Amino acid sequence: MQHIFFTGGKGVGKSTLVESLLRGKENIGGFRTVKSGGAVYLLRPGEERSAENFLFPCDGEADPKRFDTLGCGALEAPCEWIVMDELGPREEKAAVFQAAVFRALDGEIPVIGVLQEADSAFLRRVADHPNVRCIEVTKENRDALYAELCAPIVGREIRHLETVDSTNEEIKRALAAGDAPDGLTVIAAEQTAGRGRRGRQFLSEKGKGLYCSVLLKPDCPPEDLAMLTAWAAVAVRDAIEKVCGFSPAIKWPNDLVADGKKLCGILTELVTLPETGVILGIGVNLSQTAEDFGPELAPIAASLAQAAGKEIDAGLLTFAVLRELDILYRSFPGKRADYLRRYGENCLTRGEVWVVGEDVRRHAVVTGINEDFSLLVRYDTGETGVIRSGEVSVRGIYGYV
Ligand code: BTN
Repeated sequence: MQHIFFTGGKGVGKSTLVESLLRGKENIGGFRTVKSGGAVYLLRPGEERSAENFLFPCDGEADPKRFDTLGCGALEAPCEWIVMDELGPREEKAAVFQAAVFRALDGEIPVIGVLQEADSAFLRRVADHPNVRCIEVTKENRDALYAELCAPIVGREIRHLETVDSTNEEIKRALAAGDAPDGLTVIAAEQTAGRGRRGRQFLSEKGKGLYCSVLLKPDCPPEDLAMLTAWAAVAVRDAIEKVCGFSPAIKWPNDLVADGKKLCGILTELVTLPETGVILGIGVNLSQTAEDFGPELAPIAASLAQAAGKEIDAGLLTFAVLRELDILYRSFPGKRADYLRRYGENCLTRGEVWVVGEDVRRHAVVTGINEDFSLLVRYDTGETGVIRSGEVSVRGIYGYV
């Protein structure tokens, strides 16, 4: 886990960078220290200053006990992000508060903070902590820092095409031409050769769906890359929930479904040349009718419009999907436990299934989802198996789900 602390002189924009990093994030804990009316207050996010959160008078002594009670209370409340804006030399004697700060720095919840420009053993220990990236902000580098840390990576560059064979192929061509930045997003109104998993075709009629591909180049061990396929399902599921007002489920490994019908498929491809990356190809059925799907697909596929019972704004959905993918990318692979929990809560591949291979299918019972998002099954023979995405497909006993 890497925590970020900003240092630098007054008025260079350290707190603005903290605000920008936390924008749009929910469930923020920690504190801000605010100077007002000759006094300093320690406020939890969303709190107003009051006698309860008064910390010390600006011109007087800081009482370490106030840090210990107020600061520890703020740092120990459950949250997903911790802000420490700002730490200073006055905390030097607040041993209990310091212990809470270092517990947070040793932990798994990302900390974003500001260190005052002062010489103190406490501040030096924070800056030297192995999990802390300490960044000096100046008027000259703050815009570049903003772009590096706060601006979205996914969708920073979007290429819109009227028609293309496959948006995944377009990204591969961009990679081969040396013109594929991290987070590159290709969106097409139609695909003439849209591809699904296991060599299948993906119906991609003009204007009826969201057909997009995103290139990610995560800095992680290669064995972690396979997880992206399941993480993407969690991200796109959340985007659909936010925009459409209903909650799709996940069919292992990464189809999104509602009422037993497929709404979205995700094709994840690993690319190694000229550099290692993953292409997430996402196809969402937006406005198709039963007629558009035809007799073969209509019983197993649905559009968001059908599932929501109303038209879905393609622009809003695209924006929400890219935003969730950007959050995914910034969280990868550190927030594995969080994505695994959300995956498990929404995955409907449970109970009896068919495990379908090239020319055999075996009856099995799903017994769990592993840490790497593979599926644990027990076959009728009593033997157990671990199924990884791409190897075989898993179907329900009575149909697609
Ligand atoms: C599946 O359901 O098996 C996966 C379907 C993935 C379809 C998307 S649409 C955008 C991207 N381009 C492709 O050719 N495929 C993916």
